[in-house]
Amino acid sequence: MKQSRIAWAIAGAALLGMTTAAIAADKPDWGKREYDSNCAVCHGKLGKGDGPYVGMVDTKGGADLTQLAKKNGGVFPIYKVTQTIDGRHLVKVHGPRDMPIWGTDYLIDAREKQASAESPFDAEAMVTYKIYALAEYIARLQAK
Ligand code: HEC
Repeated sequence: MKQSRIAWAIAGAALLGMTTAAIAADKPDWGKREYDSNCAVCHGKLGKGDGPYVGMVDTKGGADLTQLAKKNGGVFPIYKVTQTIDGRHLVKVHGPRDMPIWGTDYLIDAREKQASAESPFDAEAMVTYKIYALAEYIARLQAK
C-alpha cells in the first residue's frame, strides 16, 4: 500500500515534469518521441489514422485519434486512452483487438532499465509515466 502510494507520487511528479517539459521547447517531448517511433505507423503522424500500416490492420475507423475528445462531449477521455494503450487490464468483451498491448512491452523495458540501474524508479511507475506522456501528446492532437 505504502509502496504503491510512493509509485503514484513518483508518477504524479513525473507527469507534472512532463507537462512542464512539453511547454519548454528545449526539453525533450517524451510523448511525441514515443508516439513517432511506435504509434505513427498505424495512427499517422498527426493521429488521423492514416499511417502506412493502415489497410494492413482492420481499423474499423478506430485508428483516428484526433476525434477522441469530440466523441466524448469535448472532454479528452484520458482514463480510457491510458487503459487502451496499456491493454493489460482490459476485459476481452470487445472482441478481437488490432491495437497492440503496450503495457507488457513497457514493463519489460522498465524492468531491464531498473535491473541495469539505468533507472532508479519502480518499473510500474515508469510504465505509467510513459503511457501518460503518450496520452498527453494525443490530447494535443485533438481536433478543435
Ligand atoms: C499495428 C497498428 C497499431 C499500432 C502500432 C498502434 N495502434 Fe493504437 N490502435 C490501432 C487500431 C487498429 C485501433 C482501433 C481499435 C482496434 O481495432 O483495436 C487502435 C486504437 C487506439 C486507441 C483507442 C482509440 C479510440 O477510439 O478509443 C488509442 C488511444 C491508441 N490506439 C493509441 C495508440 C498508441 C499511443 C500507440 C503507440 C504506443 C498505438 N496506438 C499503436 C492500431 C495500432
